[in-house]
Amino acid sequence: MAVQAWQDFIKRELVSEEKLQARIKEMGEEITRDFAGKEILVISILRGGVMITTDLIRHIHLPLAVEFMAVASYEQGMRQSDGDVRITLDLRTPIKGRHVLIVEDIIDSGNTLSSVIELLQTRNPASLTICTLLDKYERREVDVNIRYTGFKIENEFVFGYGLDVDEYYRNLPFIGIVDLEKYEPPS
Ligand code: IMP
Ligand code: MG
Repeated sequence: MAVQAWQDFIKRELVSEEKLQARIKEMGEEITRDFAGKEILVISILRGGVMITTDLIRHIHLPLAVEFMAVASYEQGMRQSDGDVRITLDLRTPIKGRHVLIVEDIIDSGNTLSSVIELLQTRNPASLTICTLLDKYERREVDVNIRYTGFKIENEFVFGYGLDVDEYYRNLPFIGIVDLEKYEPPS
């Protein structure tokens, strides 16, 4: 498999590793204060949410458990999700009566997350709170009530720190903008 080097298609770095880590630490501290005295269940949305989840929970000083959920949206055209979302990995434990914190990499149209929220609400958690690293607010199609946002970003396709382009580049410690004129899919 020939995978293009990110240096060959990056338009520019959007959020540096230092900025990411500093912001995530702040978010963890805020969550710690807001949920003081409670236990939380962190639900990480695979696969993009993994990086922020593992860094964020190091800064949450509360009793917590971590669960994973995977959702697939049927893609239509250029990385566009519609409302049609499938759960491809469900939780192993009931969430009834628990304080749930959903951790996502990015909220774009809002379709993926609103489907997840709708499903989880039917299981009667004590509370359901959303945390996202990135908010591509200009693209919102469905309203999502986000409590914690790392960074609001413009409408650009980004990669790194959990976010993929054709499943690659999730491992990079920073977030970059893809130059779609230069990007070539793996061959
Ligand atoms: P939504 O359903 O439109 O909100 O899309 C959310 C999902 O689309 C995210 O969980 C990502 O997997 C993906 N996504 C949206 N924007 C980007 C991006 O700029 N880079 C990489 N993945 C993205
Ligand atoms: Mg993706």
